[in-house]
Amino acid sequence: MQITLREIQSSDSALLAETERVCFSASWSKSAIDSVCARADFCGVLAFIGEQAVGYLLGTSLFETAEVLRIAVLPAFRGNHYGGAILDSFLGLAQRKGAERVFLEVREDNAPAIKLYQSRGFLAGRTRKNYYEDGATAVEMYKDL
Ligand SMILES: CC(C)(COP(=O)(O)OP(=O)(O)OC[C@H]1O[C@@H](n2cnc3c(N)ncnc32)[C@H](O)[C@@H]1OP(=O)(O)O)[C@@H](O)C(=O)NCCC(=O)NCCS
Repeated sequence: MQITLREIQSSDSALLAETERVCFSASWSKSAIDSVCARADFCGVLAFIGEQAVGYLLGTSLFETAEVLRIAVLPAFRGNHYGGAILDSFLGLAQRKGAERVFLEVREDNAPAIKLYQSRGFLAGRTRKNYYEDGATAVEMYKDL
């Protein structure tokens, strides 16, 4: 089905919080999402299939540097290249804002996310042990635009 993508607005935070709860066990609260969306460097993408919000990306972009903070697709909609479309949209937005390099951190055990980032040309950098609350290791990844 055809995906539509648009930039996130501050009025989307309730919808984003609802989607977070379904996608993450350690989900961000609406107030945490409000804080991210209020940042001057905020840059985010929301994806719809018809009227249904199916995924989003929360990120930042300031001068030459952008960062992916969060990306998720509802479980029932995964594996349809929606995550790739959302990430591509963010990379385009960040590039238009002047970003030259995009950074992110991902759990070392999150194979679907790592596969997604690799498919878009992200390279692995340093690893950080005990980065997450449960002790999991983070892999830093980056992509030059
Ligand atoms: C990571 C996530 C956003 C991917 O969304 P998606 O819509 O399923 O991804 P896509 O269908 O666009 O797949 C993109 C690439 O990743 C690969 N991929 C996706 N899911 C995969 C899986 N479960 N196992 C292996 N590879 C996978 C695809 O093969 C595809 O590569 P290709 O284009 O070379 O075929 C989704 O799995 C998700 O929401 N996970 C939970 C939240 C999360 O962990 N977010 C990342 C940390 S913030």
